[in-house]
Amino acid sequence: MTSTILDAPTAQPLLDWYDRHHRDLPWRVSPPMARRGVRADPYRVWLSEVMLQQTTVQAVKPYFANFLTRWPTVRDLADAPTEDVMAAWAGLGYYARARNLKKCAEAVATQHDGVFPDTEDGLKSLPGVGDYTAAAVAAIAFNRQAAVMDGNVERVISRLYAIATPLPAGKPLMRQKVALLTPATRPGDFAQAMMDLGATICTPKRPACSLCPFRGSCEALHLHDPEQFPVKAAKKEKPVRLGAAFVAVTADGEILLRRRIASGLLGGMTEVPTTAWTSRIDGETSADAAPFPSQWEACGTVTHVFTHFELRLSIYRAAIPSHIQIDDGWWEAVTNLEAQALPTIMKKAIATAIPRAFAMPKG
Ligand code: ADE
Repeated sequence: MTSTILDAPTAQPLLDWYDRHHRDLPWRVSPPMARRGVRADPYRVWLSEVMLQQTTVQAVKPYFANFLTRWPTVRDLADAPTEDVMAAWAGLGYYARARNLKKCAEAVATQHDGVFPDTEDGLKSLPGVGDYTAAAVAAIAFNRQAAVMDGNVERVISRLYAIATPLPAGKPLMRQKVALLTPATRPGDFAQAMMDLGATICTPKRPACSLCPFRGSCEALHLHDPEQFPVKAAKKEKPVRLGAAFVAVTADGEILLRRRIASGLLGGMTEVPTTAWTSRIDGETSADAAPFPSQWEACGTVTHVFTHFELRLSIYRAAIPSHIQIDDGWWEAVTNLEAQALPTIMKKAIATAIPRAFAMPKG
């Protein structure tokens, strides 16, 4: 009988793989450049890491480029009007990140002389910087031996050690394993290599194990079932909330908008007037709750899935001859909607009422 003895995992095969197969990403210093002593700009690393939480690399790229063009340094971002930052973030989701981004930039500019702290603890003292971001920036920008764990890394590490405890309970053990594997030299490259491996080889479905630098040490591969890891707790079904949204348009092409309160879901972002979003099956979905009486015409429903619930909004449209004075809103040219801090759900609502709203040439 033959038995396969697994090698103990080490960082080196992964670093060698990263030297050959790393992704070239706009916030990244490639291994050959790093070897010549080029360091990643902490501002770029921090900005990219905040954007990349819950968001794909492909989705982040244009936002990252736009932010850097408009605000090339952390001081520029600190000085920017909050509404401009929210508008530039619109579409990326999880808007608390944008509010905290601005607060963090202000803290770095005013309390740290425009220079990011270079330790995990120092970084964690900044607004909105949690364990993940602090570890990622410390490792990638400052070459600190920090254990960086995101969704990709969880998948790689849970397979490497066949960790059977379901997420999220399995996280502490996973973090411990990542910390043990993170090398003292090149910890930033190690963290990014784990992310690249998770994104390109150790994928959720049909991982390319034959190309993996850990294939000689991966317990899940040894068990012939890498896809079963990470084990996830059974998903709860999301509750549904209902509401109505009101798109009022004047004859000269202006639309009624208002700003959501600064805290809470989509806080500080722009919206068309809506009812409360209730979980009642008979939630307010009729035109009775419109911001003013008019001939409100039902034009469809839009659905958006948030972290904790699914929202179904009934959309109503009213064409009115001219402005009506509204206390807590303003009228905006439909041709200027791209410049507004409209989250995706609101863009969907407006596009349902005015199909060409986001394809109109600027006036
Ligand atoms: N996802 C989160 N951070 C990342 C990074 N620095 N590189 C690639 N993917 C990532």
